[in-house]
Amino acid sequence: MTAALEDELSYLPRPPLPIPASAKPRDAEDLGKSSFSGVHPMSSPSPPSPTAPPSPSLGAGSSPWASPATRPPSVITVRELWVWAGKKAILSDINLDFAEREVTAIIGPSGCGKTTLIRTLNRMTEVSPGLKVRGSIQYKGQDIYGRAVNPVLLRQRVGMVFQRPTVFPLSVFENVAFGLRLNRESRDVVETKVVDSLKRAGLYEELKDNLHRSALTLSGGQQQRLCIARALAVNPRVLLLDEPTSSLDPSATQKVEDLLFELKREYAVIIVTHNMQQAARVADRTAFLYQGKLIEVDETKRLFENPREKLTESYVTGRFG
Ligand SMILES: Nc1ncnc2c1ncn2[C@@H]1O[C@H](COP(=O)(O)OP(=O)(O)O)[C@@H](O)[C@H]1O
Ligand SMILES: [Mg+2]
Repeated sequence: MTAALEDELSYLPRPPLPIPASAKPRDAEDLGKSSFSGVHPMSSPSPPSPTAPPSPSLGAGSSPWASPATRPPSVITVRELWVWAGKKAILSDINLDFAEREVTAIIGPSGCGKTTLIRTLNRMTEVSPGLKVRGSIQYKGQDIYGRAVNPVLLRQRVGMVFQRPTVFPLSVFENVAFGLRLNRESRDVVETKVVDSLKRAGLYEELKDNLHRSALTLSGGQQQRLCIARALAVNPRVLLLDEPTSSLDPSATQKVEDLLFELKREYAVIIVTHNMQQAARVADRTAFLYQGKLIEVDETKRLFENPREKLTESYVTGRFG
């Protein structure tokens, strides 16, 4: 089993967590009752108030050029986020909003904290030992590190696709059905949702003749879209994609990029990429991270063509990277 596969499995309950039917959200707003009994450091000792309005002075998110009136509402709000590995700050005071029906790209040189940032958004950082997370992250106004939040449900609402395709050694059908079976959905629901998710991921036409073939026989690009289908099956609102095309050839990359345009009609999409052309092609907004700090976030065109910060300009013009 590859490290990446273990990584993805590690956030699925083994064995399935006993989530009472009454606590299962049918509504995307509801992150469920907690089966998480520990107190997360983010919730202690003095958590930011989940009801406190975000400070208007905070963050690069308040761009003078952005037109908030025309932007869709924020689905994830990050305030004063710090991540520490021992004494080293991997992320420093990040303030960022991710909007519904937008693609946000996170760019920056290798090691600047892009992966860590998106892993904080669905508490995947909890499965990396030794990381300390401080600050506030809200999903639709709910503190995701709050004690009432079930991390398994959170990870269904805020789904993640990894750098390398992490298909399970199962059939195409069972890969997509995986989360649905954990949720103990009925046969009919599983059947319908698998087909629907494969359609949404642009794979159904290619694979419909044999959904029971092993997922391992698919091409890399198909495997990556299968991982997207698996995330879509459990009704996410946000999709986190960590360099999803870095192991794909140009034509498979294009299919994934085309898919992002479809997906953003319904989902908030957050994509980490070190490929600036890709960010320019797919993202409505782009955030530039450098050494764990958010240097600038803006509409993609503005960030590339008229950055406010010298550092951003140097990066987007290829002076370092
Ligand atoms: N679990 C961890 N423990 C210690 N250091 C870590 C851990 N995860 C990431 N880091 C460090 O944090 C920095 C940012 O890593 P990462 O978020 O993977 O960057 P990027 O995705 O931008 O390449 C790197 O220096 C990396 O070594
Ligand atoms: Mg990374």
